Amino acid sequence: MERIIDFIGLNNILRRKKNSQKVIILDSNTYDNCLATLIGEVESLCDAQIIEIDPGEENKSLETYTTIIQTLIEQSSDKNTQLIALGGGMITDLALFIGATYKRGIDTYLVPTTLLAMIDATIGGKCAINFGEVKNQIGTFVKKITICLEPVFLETLSERQILNGLAEILKIALVSDANLFETILQNDPLRIVNNEEIIHNAIKLKQTIVKQDPFDKNYRHILNFGHTIGHALESMAMKKGEDLLHGEAVASGVYYTLDLCNNLSKETTNKIKQYIAQYYTIQQIDNVQELFNYMNSDKKTINNEYNFVLLEEIGKATINNKISREQIEVIIKN
Ligand SMILES: NC(=O)c1ccc[n+]([C@@H]2O[C@H](COP(=O)([O-])OP(=O)(O)OC[C@H]3O[C@@H](n4cnc5c(N)ncnc54)[C@H](O)[C@@H]3O)[C@@H](O)[C@H]2O)c1
Repeated sequence: MERIIDFIGLNNILRRKKNSQKVIILDSNTYDNCLATLIGEVESLCDAQIIEIDPGEENKSLETYTTIIQTLIEQSSDKNTQLIALGGGMITDLALFIGATYKRGIDTYLVPTTLLAMIDATIGGKCAINFGEVKNQIGTFVKKITICLEPVFLETLSERQILNGLAEILKIALVSDANLFETILQNDPLRIVNNEEIIHNAIKLKQTIVKQDPFDKNYRHILNFGHTIGHALESMAMKKGEDLLHGEAVASGVYYTLDLCNNLSKETTNKIKQYIAQYYTIQQIDNVQELFNYMNSDKKTINNEYNFVLLEEIGKATINNKISREQIEVIIKN
């Protein structure tokens, strides 16, 4: 389970290891937008070494991993080094994996700066880097993670990135907390970043789910709601070179999947779909065969049946629902 601290907590922890080298890993956007705030608030970091990489998912790579390890060796970072990740999920995933593997593990602290990283990427003990074009192929689970959660960083985040994170909050509310769903509806989505209660609720909900299935064997799969179609949409967009964020793909995935949730009333389905359509562009699926090709290559497919997470009601989901190709064709054409 993650330990959540603030700037003061981080400063206190770092201060205790007085003679250790401090290394901040960040990308050029968090260098420009977040570093001054972090160093201003966490005095122990005033002499930290900075390792800056280019932003973008393509840099969560083995090549970047190797470059950073090389830098750590060259600057004589030893077993006592304290690593600080300052960034979105790309940086926190990469830095956590470096921290877990460099010299068999060094102390690593995550400072998430996107909404998605605060409520999702840093929660749940997983970290990974991509291998070539395949996402999250090399990684591990990390038992103890310390997160410095400071929503002040969200002030410089674009509206698009806020909505990207909101899609995952919406998903977690739909599968596990009807009250959170109502709260989301009552708030202006772009002001959600000012509502720390929503952020903390979303974190607690994910932690509760992860605690029941830390190694992602069964129950935790409810977090994949909307992802069977969402992942395929993401891959299709990537192949075409289209700019589609993960949360945006998940929003469309949830939108389509709602029509498979036969236990939901029409009214409830429409209420959720209306909200999604108001804030996200629903990805049109012109090439149905291509969608199935990507869904077939996904581990959620067995014997030509597709494995879906479905909602029983808002706040309650079930896993391992087998859905046929014909059923999917109907909801896509609707
Ligand atoms: N480990 C997990 O369980 C888990 C779960 C979900 C997602 N992830 C990973 O998270 C990554 C996506 O994370 P993300 O959506 O945060 O993307 P990201 O880290 O790429 O950040 C998005 C963009 O926002 C910029 N940025 C970050 N903070 C900023 C700030 N405060 N102000 C202005 N710009 C800022 C970044 O430089 C980047 O350009 C993916 O690699 C995904 O695989 C991991």
